[in-house]
Amino acid sequence: MSQRESFSEERSAEVVAASFAGTPDPRLRQVLTSLVEHLHAFVKDVELTEEEWGAAIAFLTATGQTCDDVRQEFVLLSDVLGVSMLVETINHRTGGQSTESTVLGPFHMVDSPPRELGADIALDGKGNPCLVTGRVTGPDGEPLGGALVDVWQANDDGFYDVQQPGIQPERNLRGLFTTDSDGRFWFRTIVPRHYPIPDDGPVGRLLAATGRHPNRPAHVHFIVTADGHRPVTTHLFVDDSPYLDSDAVFGVKDSLVRPFPVVDDAARAAEVGLPNPFRTVHFDVALLRGDQAPPAAQPAEVAPTVVRGAPGGSPE
Ligand code: BEZ
Ligand code: FE
Repeated sequence: MSQRESFSEERSAEVVAASFAGTPDPRLRQVLTSLVEHLHAFVKDVELTEEEWGAAIAFLTATGQTCDDVRQEFVLLSDVLGVSMLVETINHRTGGQSTESTVLGPFHMVDSPPRELGADIALDGKGNPCLVTGRVTGPDGEPLGGALVDVWQANDDGFYDVQQPGIQPERNLRGLFTTDSDGRFWFRTIVPRHYPIPDDGPVGRLLAATGRHPNRPAHVHFIVTADGHRPVTTHLFVDDSPYLDSDAVFGVKDSLVRPFPVVDDAARAAEVGLPNPFRTVHFDVALLRGDQAPPAAQPAEVAPTVVRGAPGGSPE
């Protein structure tokens, strides 16, 4: 039967999928076939109207038109639909042996400056001073000296330096640290603050139309790399931050949330070069070895990855 004869409401997906049957690349064929099946099922499920399809095309067009060298609205769309986190989670399974990953986000667009261990990355002098300490190890706890710890975070007003050129010092709240021979790293910063993702475009309008807020809970971004090991892109979250349970991009994993207790000890403050009192946090990072096969799925005995975030409703 020809395509013209067989295209019907019932058989649309089958007919369109068949049009891709000759795709030479088997993975492309698999992905397109599944995409068509799911898309057609969705259109039938909601009985999409012509007006709705037109609105969807207009929305996607506006999303594309909002993209430029520094704004990637399609990535934001993927983020708020939870697709970025799902792809991240599937592709970085830990098998319970290494630090969980989360989204990269759009603000790692400049190189972090190499800094000495202990340096203060808060160049704008605002916020609650904080000492961050941690240790990078392999999957069996072996220390990884010479590992690179790349960190960046928003300032106390909730903006990254690249969002406020001329207002914040360049490379404010960014640093590239090298662990000591025991795998340890430490640096001074401020306690990060929650902030909204860019919401002045189509994605922001989608959030507003659906009663969702645009906020992310307070976090420090990390990319940790070490020779012979799989890198991890992750966050350290503040345990008393608003929005931990409703992250706009579904990025929170329980294993990445830490307390930031207050230390009131003048001698210790002088030793680390911070005013007394100050806050502290400890964040150890474990990396899989490069020669380890990536876990196919979390083993049953490993607690399942808990991805928090059902944005909307209450801001807590
Ligand atoms: C961020 O954490 O920097 C981020 C992640 C996803 C979307 C927007 C911002
Ligand atoms: Fe961020």
